[in-house]
Amino acid sequence: MNDTINSRRRHLVLAGAAMAAGAMPLAAMAADPVKVGLIVPMSGPFASTGRQIEAAVKLYQQKYGDSVAGRKVEILLKDDGGVSPDVTKRLAQELITRDKAQVLMGFGLTPLALSAAPIATQAKVPMIVTAAATSIIPQRSPYIVRTGFTLAQVTAPLAGWAAKNGIKSVVTFVTDYGPGLDAEKVFAKTFGEAGGKVLESLRVPLRNPDYAPFLQRVKDAKPEALFVFVPSGEGAAVLKQFTERGLAAAGIRLICTGDVLDDDLMPSIGAASKDVVSSHHYSAAHPSPANKEYVEGIARMNKGMRANFHSVGAYDGMHLLYEALKKTNGDTDGEKLLAAMKGMSWDSVRGPVSIDAATRDIVQTVYMRRAEQKGGEFYNIEFDKVDKVRDPGV
Ligand code: PHB
Repeated sequence: MNDTINSRRRHLVLAGAAMAAGAMPLAAMAADPVKVGLIVPMSGPFASTGRQIEAAVKLYQQKYGDSVAGRKVEILLKDDGGVSPDVTKRLAQELITRDKAQVLMGFGLTPLALSAAPIATQAKVPMIVTAAATSIIPQRSPYIVRTGFTLAQVTAPLAGWAAKNGIKSVVTFVTDYGPGLDAEKVFAKTFGEAGGKVLESLRVPLRNPDYAPFLQRVKDAKPEALFVFVPSGEGAAVLKQFTERGLAAAGIRLICTGDVLDDDLMPSIGAASKDVVSSHHYSAAHPSPANKEYVEGIARMNKGMRANFHSVGAYDGMHLLYEALKKTNGDTDGEKLLAAMKGMSWDSVRGPVSIDAATRDIVQTVYMRRAEQKGGEFYNIEFDKVDKVRDPGV
């Protein structure tokens, strides 16, 4: 009896497999893999960005499989070292001409994304920017789509919050390149329009920064608050100096974008982050079941690493690519993929997001957070939010 059922079941399974194979177009079955050139800093001062992005891409493929629309998705990971636009540009070129990549993804810093933009345009290859966050980036190529965020997008709500919460004078302190200049400008505009006063605008170098002399100037200017943007990886050094130079003791309040209180660094920043208010599009402490599962997944696969916003940008970059490939039935034509990506919306682990069809930039919720201890470690705990924030431009 059992044998009969088993053999019948086996027969049905085989028939099902044959039908599935028959239903699949021959072209898709025999198709080459979709090659994704993932260019990120895996070494150098911004290596944590590359590590986070790689972790997210691996987790995505573990959860959703390494094939979509009948095609295998092969990730070609390249380390650009994070500091040289020429290296990033050469890697993009090689990935397209030699390795036949049909999609480019990653890009840890603005100058690196800008250097690859003309390559994407020339080759008509989609370029999914998951990390670099200067507003202008998608304007540099019609093939760029952004799944991370922009500094202008996350800074405006913080400036509004500061003005509403009794802060009247601020010194701004930003890294002297694209995203820092965007943050400085948007902060001054929003805060100024709400009646606040920016006493001084300080810019620190991107390469080998020494924060101490700049923080001394802040102390001398005696603002009620200091607004800071530095790229992820640098926040711990700023917070250490802020405390050591006695700015906190002098009653100066620190407010910042979430780049400074990057989740990857929060365990090492520790108590120096206590009560610091920041704004950003992602916190590892975002209270949703999907995010809890995500954070656990990243930690499980990466020796306890805490997921940060760069990982989420890449996880959503993979989602955008997979969903676009489903829509094109596995066709990697650049125009078709772009058309499929424009206007797409989904529930990210960070909350609801969409790709603005006209600008190809991400629209998302921006959260106000306060750093608090939770289970022995400091986290950015969300206490307010602004929905559907677009890049306001600068
Ligand atoms: C950038 O270079 O665009 C960038 C890098 C790291 C950040 C934010 C912006 O945290």
